[in-house]
Amino acid sequence: MRILGVESSCDETGVALIDERCGLLGHLLYSQASLHADYGGVVPELASRDHIRKTIPLIRQILSETGTAPQDISGVAYTAGPGLMGALLVGGSIARSLAWAWQVPAVGIHHMEGHLLSPMLEDEPPTPPFVALLVSGGHTQLVKVEAVGRYRLLGQSLDDAAGEAFDKTAKLMGLGYPGGPALAKMAKQGRPGRFKFPRPMIDRPGLNFSFSGLKTFTNNTLAIEPHDTQTKADIALAFEEAVVDTLTIKCRRALEATCLRTLVVAGGVGANQRLRTQLKTMVAQSDATIYYPRLDFCTDNGAMIAYAGLVRLKSGQGDGLAIHARPRWLMTDLSEVPSAQ
Ligand code: KG4
Ligand code: ZN
Repeated sequence: MRILGVESSCDETGVALIDERCGLLGHLLYSQASLHADYGGVVPELASRDHIRKTIPLIRQILSETGTAPQDISGVAYTAGPGLMGALLVGGSIARSLAWAWQVPAVGIHHMEGHLLSPMLEDEPPTPPFVALLVSGGHTQLVKVEAVGRYRLLGQSLDDAAGEAFDKTAKLMGLGYPGGPALAKMAKQGRPGRFKFPRPMIDRPGLNFSFSGLKTFTNNTLAIEPHDTQTKADIALAFEEAVVDTLTIKCRRALEATCLRTLVVAGGVGANQRLRTQLKTMVAQSDATIYYPRLDFCTDNGAMIAYAGLVRLKSGQGDGLAIHARPRWLMTDLSEVPSAQ
């Protein structure tokens, strides 16, 4: 079985081809970051229009680069949600139409399930049950993965997602868009100990998060401190430490609460080096194991959608002829994939 995957939920157009026997054949990614940079965030209408421009040329390119003919393709997977309505509709319409023309099934994939399964593309994949920390620009969730498709939400952010907090804080500090990587880079020059930011909600039981206060804390600190580069770097470090400490504490609690020994980390913030180092230390102390996707697959990509599509289509799941676009969609509403057990 050979599956084409199409990702278009936000500001990245991703396509990939995966083969049941040979694994990932190739993937291509086009980032719209420079298009949105002037606006300091994603402009949904511009995102949709750019997906229209890029999706078909990228599909043509991946077919040619991997020597794949349309008749070699046995199914098409696309991101059906959550995400920006217009952007989802572009990817979904193209993917569903191609599947119809090629007379193969199509399946709409939950973007966060794509992230969650992305470490399965690595040589030593995790096997359920495990705890997953999903940290992206739109979501921060701790999920108990009992089986592929059977997810229990353990906790989530009550306000800003971790990536959103990085992006908004970076914007306050005058760093470009997307702010997460820029802020993390700046934090590398920071001196520890000059500022101490709070670790939100760690004194309360439970596994929920709240990150919006850290942005306010940054704003208040910037209001009374000089804006020289060193001060900004010290603030960036204090902010990053606060987010990373909070995520680490809650991951430890989630492993304890579920009596599980496997942690999977996925989503854009999973690319953060401090988070990776600190979680590695925590799992070693907890006698647990940690799994990540490769750095390229932490952020949005077509490979994770192709993989999730392969798993679902292989088990016989498909969506009929409808184009699905669900800007809001709970991962806990997904169906279990029987043959993936
Ligand atoms: O998973 P993703 O590509 O898109 C969504 O599904 O949202 O995540 C993007 C988020 C952005 O908020 C970005 O700033 C953040 O991940 N991010 C990072 C880093 N790389 C990406 N945040 C902190 N440190 C990084 N190195
Ligand atoms: Zn994502």
